[in-house]
Amino acid sequence: MSHHSNANTSSKKPESELIADWAHLLKVFLRPEDSESHGTLVKYMEQILFGLHDFLRKHVGITEAKSLKELSERFTDTIIKENPEKKLADVITCVIDEIAPQAVNVASPYFVGHMTSAIPFFMVHLKTIVAALNQNVVKLETSKVVSIIEKQVIAKIHRMIYENSESFYQTHVQNTETTLGAFVEGGTSANLTAFWVARNARFAPKEGFDGVEIDGMAAAYKAYGVDRSVILASRLGHYSLRKAAGILGIGNKNIIPIDTDANNKLDVHALRQKIHEIESGPEKTCILAVVGIAGATETGTIDPLEEMAEICREHGIHFHVDAAWGGPTLFSNSYGHLLNGIKRADSVTIDGHKQFYMPMSCGMVYFKNPVIMDVIAYYAHYVNRRGSVDLGIKSLSGSREANSLILDSALKIMGTKGYELLIDHGIETAAAFAEEISQRENFQLITSPELNILTYRLCPPEFHQRIESRDPQTLQAANEELNSLNRNLQRLQREAGWSFVSRTTLKINQNDPNCIVVLRAVIMNPISTIKILKDILDEQEEIYRHQLAHKFSSPD
Ligand SMILES: Cc1ncc(COP(=O)(O)O)c(C=O)c1O
Repeated sequence: MSHHSNANTSSKKPESELIADWAHLLKVFLRPEDSESHGTLVKYMEQILFGLHDFLRKHVGITEAKSLKELSERFTDTIIKENPEKKLADVITCVIDEIAPQAVNVASPYFVGHMTSAIPFFMVHLKTIVAALNQNVVKLETSKVVSIIEKQVIAKIHRMIYENSESFYQTHVQNTETTLGAFVEGGTSANLTAFWVARNARFAPKEGFDGVEIDGMAAAYKAYGVDRSVILASRLGHYSLRKAAGILGIGNKNIIPIDTDANNKLDVHALRQKIHEIESGPEKTCILAVVGIAGATETGTIDPLEEMAEICREHGIHFHVDAAWGGPTLFSNSYGHLLNGIKRADSVTIDGHKQFYMPMSCGMVYFKNPVIMDVIAYYAHYVNRRGSVDLGIKSLSGSREANSLILDSALKIMGTKGYELLIDHGIETAAAFAEEISQRENFQLITSPELNILTYRLCPPEFHQRIESRDPQTLQAANEELNSLNRNLQRLQREAGWSFVSRTTLKINQNDPNCIVVLRAVIMNPISTIKILKDILDEQEEIYRHQLAHKFSSPD
């Protein structure tokens, strides 16, 4: 069915009208349109690579001050045209001239607010290879060697985490009966997969019960004499944990937040106490998993994984480590030890599109037990037959791109040493940044960086006395003013378009239920040097002096 546009049957005819016919289609499928030669393909790739590369060099922060309203008014066309509107060359030109300048230059060294940043340029080539080959790794019949490569790279990362013996890896690397992990869409689906496996392993089939995957949660609770299931995680756990609990029928209120200590690490004492409370409570509650975070989203902090693993062992609880952010720290000889205890985890989440510097999007989940993923296996007659290497058997996704090719190649191009340099740079630059913040009287460091994430706030001298006050009302009033100041500062800096730090709220005092607004910096771009970070602070001080100070005066 075609869609006709009344508005576009205008008198003005395009110079050469594009027609969707078989000749045109065959050209598009067989070789680059317009041309008999491979030169056209190269020409278009050049246009993309150099055109976008210039964009990355020219702009910083969030580019051009065009409002979202203006942009949304420009994109209101909801009719799909019957005939082609543009040739590929024109589409590329449009992206370079009109879309890219209004997109966010996450590669700028002044863009230090999120876990998305510059990627090595070879990633663009690797992504192109994946698109050009277009393998579907759901099944061998559409991927062949690429599924084999995926198993190999999964074993490599599993080895980085768990450091099992050479013979363990030789047994499992290409074993069709076992699975060491899976590529998924991102950290969210990795956490979901880990809980899915933990849930199905806990509510396994038994006499009169076919297992939770078949019979559902109500039947599982009945069969096991359970009233509810919970998952325990630090209050700094990523919101994807709640999403996963919602999807799996656990209920997202059953992600139970555990208090953190003064360093934003899960408080082991509080964890023990909560487990005791649950186990001795009136309700028959099943603790499905305990989650340790290795690189909390907001503070970058790492939970005490070793002690948490021990508690889980004592109580027979599935121990999941969310290392979506911090996983690649294991490459660092200087800082890898911060993740000690991770190898005792039953499952581990790591994102490829975070500190493996891969393009969007790639997540991974790993399991200590090579057969535990059997509990989520699905078979189909036309694919994914029993006993095959089809990777779709034990994966949340069906059709899936060959991200393993990107990661495997990147590991070869970078080596562990290359990643170590990136990780060390981020951690050491964040430490220097924290030092600089502490030395400036206009700022207050809120959370020191354990990895490469820190939070701070603008807190000019006129506020210093008030935030030290023991009087809760004085303190609260000062914090409210500071919250407003920092919200405005972050917005004004973002709108100016030169630099970007993000903003969140954090509870800094266990006894104070109120959160404060903080600025958050994530240092992962190797070009983000301390000089650039000082520029960002200078700009913030200037915004304060020129645009904000007059609105905020000390009451005394
Ligand atoms: C600790 C942690 N876990 C999970 C996620 C979710 O990852 P994704 O956005 O790739 O789904 C994030 C994302 O920031 C994260 O920081």
